[in-house]
Amino acid sequence: MLEILIFASLRAFVHGEQVADVVLSCFFIEERGEMTGANFIRYPATMVLKDLPMNSSETITPYIPPNTPNPDDLIFEATASSVEIPEVESILHADCNEQEVICELSRYIPHGTKPDSLPAHFIASVQLEGGRVGFSLVLQTLASENAESDTASLMQSKLQLPLSQWGTLLTDVVFVLFSRSPSIAAPIGEDTVLDCGYRQRDIPTDQNLGLEWRWQYRGHGKTILEIKQSAEGTFMAVDRDGASANSALLVKDGNASLTMKKLRVSDEGTYICTINSGPFQIQQIVQLNIMQPPKVFFQESIITFQDESSKRLSCHCKQYYPLDVKVEWFFQLPLETERICLTDESSLSSHQQHSDGTFSLSSFLIVHPTKYPSGTVFSCSVSHVALQTPSDVSLTVLKPEPGQFKSLGE
Ligand SMILES: *[C@@H]1O[C@H](CO)[C@@H](O)[C@H](O)[C@H]1NC(C)=O
Ligand SMILES: *[C@@H]1O[C@H](CO)[C@@H](O)[C@H](O)[C@H]1NC(C)=O
Repeated sequence: MLEILIFASLRAFVHGEQVADVVLSCFFIEERGEMTGANFIRYPATMVLKDLPMNSSETITPYIPPNTPNPDDLIFEATASSVEIPEVESILHADCNEQEVICELSRYIPHGTKPDSLPAHFIASVQLEGGRVGFSLVLQTLASENAESDTASLMQSKLQLPLSQWGTLLTDVVFVLFSRSPSIAAPIGEDTVLDCGYRQRDIPTDQNLGLEWRWQYRGHGKTILEIKQSAEGTFMAVDRDGASANSALLVKDGNASLTMKKLRVSDEGTYICTINSGPFQIQQIVQLNIMQPPKVFFQESIITFQDESSKRLSCHCKQYYPLDVKVEWFFQLPLETERICLTDESSLSSHQQHSDGTFSLSSFLIVHPTKYPSGTVFSCSVSHVALQTPSDVSLTVLKPEPGQFKSLGE
């Protein structure tokens, strides 16, 4: 569990909101040895998101930078004065909810700039475990405050960039790409929205804006939707029936969400939302899982024992997704309060896959009349990831109709 510290400064914000500094433990990722293939090195780093508007009433402790500036420390101070970071408050609560925050920083080279040109850029990817929120921030270095002073400013040892007097790298957030639901589960046939949006500090003058939604699943992939907005107009291409995005909202509100009508099993996968705007090309992942609960029912509508022969009960689990399902059998004798598990005595059919991608399975139980008097309740209990609690069906052993005695005995 990474440590998250929350500091709120004493300045009041509009409408009595407070502003807070959120301090995240991150890793700075450096790529090495381009010739020999990707090789990544991770260094511990810290990101301080400064002066974020917060509603929290938590105890206020001001953020204190390290006592002695250390050129080996990687502390990114990021102000987001002109760019809103949506849902950043959920990061505040991640600590209480024991959710992990994954934060990774790396060097970023905007289109049309040289690797060592100034200002320098970094990208921070922040993902909250549990799929509550995910975002990528582009940080741009600010001119160091003591650059003009006589004393040579402290240089960060790895990045060779000037640090503030207190040993931090001062940056401004210039671009945010986010998803407020980076992981979603939805049933077949429903419509869903894959959430993605962006905010940008400097609106590019060339009016060029691009959105791409790409789908990937087990080594397959394709572009689902593409929008290109330029001075000439809007170009849109869609490669899935019922998929859409709103190019007007994309430009006006930074809303890049993808609407998907009538979900199918084949829609499951990883979706990559890519925004091209000005010098930036940034991606955010949204994971879509299809979850269809099984329909559980007995084949038999009643159970009676007319003679000494045993009966077979069939419990069907129909049209669920994904594959894993667990079937348990129980019986409860009349006047008893506890039910007893019988799973060891049952047998399973093989999985059957339907043309819509869903699965079906049946479980069978052979029952003997000597052990189960009328009034005994048999239950079939099915657990599946799409069910919050197991789905239970039951069947009570009935006394045979008097007419049936006649036909048997007389
Ligand atoms: C704080 O709360 C107010 C009212 O409850 C809400 O309108 C505002 O958006 C909240 N601000 C943040 C940063 O969540
Ligand atoms: C985009 O618009 C859709 C539909 O109005 C809405 O459901 C979604 O929350 C919006 N998303 C963002 C990121 O603004």
